[in-house]
Amino acid sequence: MSRLDSFIRRLTAQKILIEHAVGLIADVPGPILELGLGVARTYDHMRSLAPEREIFAFDNVIVAPIDLLPDAHHFILGEIRETLAFCGPRVGAKAALMHNDIGSGDEIHNAATRAWLAPLVPPAMAPGGVVVTSFEMDLPGYSKLPVPPEIGRNRYHIYRAPRG
Ligand SMILES: C[S@@+](CC[C@H](N)C(=O)[O-])C[C@H]1O[C@@H](n2cnc3c(N)ncnc32)[C@H](O)[C@@H]1O
Repeated sequence: MSRLDSFIRRLTAQKILIEHAVGLIADVPGPILELGLGVARTYDHMRSLAPEREIFAFDNVIVAPIDLLPDAHHFILGEIRETLAFCGPRVGAKAALMHNDIGSGDEIHNAATRAWLAPLVPPAMAPGGVVVTSFEMDLPGYSKLPVPPEIGRNRYHIYRAPRG
């Protein structure tokens, strides 16, 4: 598969899974956390799918087009490893949806990120909240949900927090 085909498949899978996840959280109150604002493609898509939700976006750099940047309250600038555990007072509620897009094509990098990120996820999540992630995570007590059939195996992963 060419790099272009792979890129198109990745973004298509991301779009399908985000749309699926937003449907799953219809009855779960709370904001959305976007880990990895990047150029704000997925942020903007989630904004259009869930205009009633607050979305807090995390990144350690600003590369998004200025007209797509969240306002200062909703943009949490810095290393997620340092900010995620301490964003509660700003976010003000547990998250209904977390979209983790800080993975890379490098499995070693993903393994290292997974090791520090996974323990920070459950404290941020609402009961019944959904985590969409580009790499698998060990989230004790969470259910791993099936992805829609159009998505290739191991491309994206979706987990649901216990209802409490
Ligand atoms: C693949 S891009 C995100 C793409 C974005 N979701 C979009 O649709 O445009 C990953 C982003 O995560 C950010 N990132 C990666 N690791 C990070 C970390 N440990 N802390 C904060 N930001 C991080 C990078 O700076 C980059 O902007």
